[in-house]
Amino acid sequence: MVKIYFFFFLIVSSHSFVPPHVAECPPLGMESHKIESDQLTASSMSQYAFSPQRARLNMQGSEDEDNMRGGAWCANSEDRIHWFEVDARRETEFTGVVTQGRDALNESDFVTSYFLAFSNDSREWTTIHDGYADWLFFGNNDKDTPVMNRLAEPVLARYIRIIPQSWNGSLCMRLEVLGCPVPDPGGALYRQNEVTPVDYLEFKHHSYSEMVELMKSVHEECPNITNIYSLGRSSKGREIMAMIISGNPTEHEIGEPEFRFTAGLHGNEAVGRELILLLMQYLCKEYKDRNPRAQRLVEGIRIHLVPSLNPDGHETAFEVGSEMSSWTMGHFTEDGFDIFQNFPDLNSILWDAEDKGMVPKLTPNHHVPIPENFEFNTSIAMETRAIISWMKAYPFVLGANFQGGEAIVAYPYDSLRLNKPAKSEQSRSRKKRQYEDEGFDVTEWGRGYQEEPEEDWRSRGYAEPEEEWRGHGYDHGYDHGYDPGYEHGYSQGYGHREEEEDDGGRGAGFHYSEPEDEPRLTPDESLFRWLAVSYASTHLTMTHNYRGSCHGDIPAGAVGMVNRAKWKPVTGSMNDFSYLHTNCYELSIFLGCDKFPHQSELAQEWEKNREAMLTFMEQVHRGIRGIVKDQQGNPIANATISVEGINHDVTTAPTGDYWRLLNPGEYRVTAKAEGFSSETKLCVVGYESGATSCSFNLAKSNWDRIKQIMALHGNKPIRLSYSNSRTQTSSRSSGSQKRVISGGNGFSSNSNASPQRMRMLRIARIRRLRQQRLMRLRLSLTTTMPTTTTTTTTAAPTTSWYDSWGLGEAESVTPVLDYNYEYKIDDY
Ligand SMILES: *[C@@H]1O[C@H](CO)[C@@H](O)[C@H](O)[C@H]1NC(C)=O
Ligand SMILES: *[C@@H]1O[C@H](CO)[C@@H](O)[C@H](O)[C@H]1NC(C)=O
Ligand SMILES: *[C@@H]1O[C@H](CO)[C@@H](O)[C@H](O)[C@H]1NC(C)=O
Ligand SMILES: *[C@@H]1O[C@H](CO)[C@@H](O)[C@H](O)[C@H]1NC(C)=O
Ligand SMILES: *[C@@H]1O[C@H](CO)[C@@H](O)[C@H](O)[C@H]1NC(C)=O
Ligand SMILES: *[C@@H]1O[C@H](CO)[C@@H](O)[C@H](O)[C@H]1NC(C)=O
Repeated sequence: MVKIYFFFFLIVSSHSFVPPHVAECPPLGMESHKIESDQLTASSMSQYAFSPQRARLNMQGSEDEDNMRGGAWCANSEDRIHWFEVDARRETEFTGVVTQGRDALNESDFVTSYFLAFSNDSREWTTIHDGYADWLFFGNNDKDTPVMNRLAEPVLARYIRIIPQSWNGSLCMRLEVLGCPVPDPGGALYRQNEVTPVDYLEFKHHSYSEMVELMKSVHEECPNITNIYSLGRSSKGREIMAMIISGNPTEHEIGEPEFRFTAGLHGNEAVGRELILLLMQYLCKEYKDRNPRAQRLVEGIRIHLVPSLNPDGHETAFEVGSEMSSWTMGHFTEDGFDIFQNFPDLNSILWDAEDKGMVPKLTPNHHVPIPENFEFNTSIAMETRAIISWMKAYPFVLGANFQGGEAIVAYPYDSLRLNKPAKSEQSRSRKKRQYEDEGFDVTEWGRGYQEEPEEDWRSRGYAEPEEEWRGHGYDHGYDHGYDPGYEHGYSQGYGHREEEEDDGGRGAGFHYSEPEDEPRLTPDESLFRWLAVSYASTHLTMTHNYRGSCHGDIPAGAVGMVNRAKWKPVTGSMNDFSYLHTNCYELSIFLGCDKFPHQSELAQEWEKNREAMLTFMEQVHRGIRGIVKDQQGNPIANATISVEGINHDVTTAPTGDYWRLLNPGEYRVTAKAEGFSSETKLCVVGYESGATSCSFNLAKSNWDRIKQIMALHGNKPIRLSYSNSRTQTSSRSSGSQKRVISGGNGFSSNSNASPQRMRMLRIARIRRLRQQRLMRLRLSLTTTMPTTTTTTTTAAPTTSWYDSWGLGEAESVTPVLDYNYEYKIDDY
């Protein structure tokens, strides 16, 4: 394998500067924000929204009237002389610049020619000239396409100035500067290369064929823990390659959760692709070297890694190169689709049903069916279809897709619908009271939270102290449940549940009492926040983004994570689809401002993300898991697992096993399956890693017999009795739903009578639970807290962990599933 890294390492250790080949100097980091805002100055700015900090390559603007963010630096047109200056903060060998016009809808502003000047002190400037006159560099021809100018000879200096000479429209530009910082001769190491080099990893951007080669070589190195297959083909016929890494990669082992990392939905977002390729190499090598953590991961999870979901798009961006691929080149598929938001919109279907009060009693709160016309819909990409059938073919539990252009984890819902006013009126006033108690000005808070653009303070001239800002955003965030800390994440899990139970408002799906103009949240909000935190807080720099997000459009207080609907809502997203149509919890991880960074950045990207990727994978073991069987020990496929208080169920895999991700707490868990009596248990999730076992043995119900009798009676009167199975029967078609509702005397009287009593029972139970919790807490002061306890509240015997995983009854276990997604590596 190529040891690109080795080269840099030599430079560092010898402490003498050997200039790399001139053309090879990487960007200094305008786009990646490695260059900080206070390193940028300009002769003037046309207005506040077009400050020098907006001059970063690929900066995205917004023409929103309330919150205008310029898509470039723009100079004041009344000035006679214009310049833009970058302070590299150290002696640097400058080798070139890349310029771009302003990101704007209607305007076409860009600089068509400029001079370049250099200085060591920012007072005396040397302009590049050809011996007779200053050298005029030709700039852009449109507002979006980057244009690179390389210097004939590298220039040693600390400051660089771009001095525009002519422009189209207004004088606006975005840029990147290419250069190699000269290592400090004083001996301080060149910080960037402090990363311990790992020589078996291949830090480079891979073309499609190189990617396939690399995957093959990893498979050859670790044949018994890897398996390569294809999800399907892209529109240009490239296979969408995947690799499974697991102890037994070719089959689903009962009880073993399946996990996925995907990247390259947008072909020009190249970091995730390389991270996944690095992760393959890493897991293979570390597993072989008996690294215990790698062995636990590989043996305990079936890990699917898909580096490139849009291989055609990547090839387009790859050919243009890292600095030149602009914001959108290669973003879309060959047929012009943005895969991430090309999935069927199931949110509207579920939310419409929620608004009618039909969820979950009449309409299931999970596995929302894909609309019928989907099959013939021409606006669904080939790649999307391949991904959908893949998502359905494996019992995935947790996944994340890597994207780029921002540094944050975004969790669903991704699609936006505001909460209904009537529902939240009461809870909002409660929330308001709470804030007033704590001395917050509620109106001020609301404004700050919703509208204050992060860019504001940043562009205002660095005067506003960091601490103050942090305190501001962080505190408010905290009270709203935006807490990036581990410990708080846990306690939030508990607190959240308690509040909810007191609320008595279960079933409606509004778990956090939100103001009416807030987006609808998933019933798993606290879990999703936990998952997001687990990545963001273990990433080396992601939670540092109090310095400002890449484009200034992240809501204040979103430290390292954000609810996508609050930030940049999209309909038909992969995450929403995964949550609403399958059992898999999927998040988007935005890896950084620079979508396609220079190759020399990859080693650092790996270091920043390695721990976060491992930690995130380990979260698949959070919550409860088990097997649902009948009393003869046969697994029951497609049984429903409901957790009281969380209006989102999961189902068992064809092998009867299930996983339900949950934050620590006590949960009443119910397993239901057609033809069986349902069973409810209390399952406790502790703080230690490892899912709590919570298996079920369901007894046959006589419901089948009743149904036969009912059929004899023409399905009418008996139907109205209240039962679990009715939900399933009636949700099949809207025809039968109507019948239930309109004929529903029994239904309405039932629902009038019960809430009161239900509430009483619930309160009694909450008291009991609290008592138990207190007792346990006291106990844990002297002994260690029990973490994997399963209390059975029904007559069924408590199954020990070993029993439930079939260790004692290996023979009776069902045959292991063999999915027909096999892929022969020899085909290449
Ligand atoms: C851009 O042009 C469209 C139509 O040409 C217009 O509706 C829109 O308001 C314009 N936007 C701005 C910011 O001027
Ligand atoms: C900056 O200083 C270095 C010596 O330290 C010199 O070689 C270089 O030419 C100077 N650059 C400019 C632009 O004056
Ligand atoms: C700027 O360039 C665009 C083409 O890219 C052209 O349509 C437009 O008229 C130009 N504007 C001015 C003010 O010259
Ligand atoms: C894979 O093979 C190696 C030896 O080549 C062996 O040590 C290891 O236990 C095997 N792993 C599995 C999961 O079979
Ligand atoms: C096809 O799918 C797209 C994207 O999900 C959707 O917007 C459109 O309404 C669908 N068309 C039909 C005819 O269903
Ligand atoms: C799973 O069960 C539901 C009802 O609970 C049913 O509608 C659905 O078709 C079943 N799915 C499969 C794959 O059997």
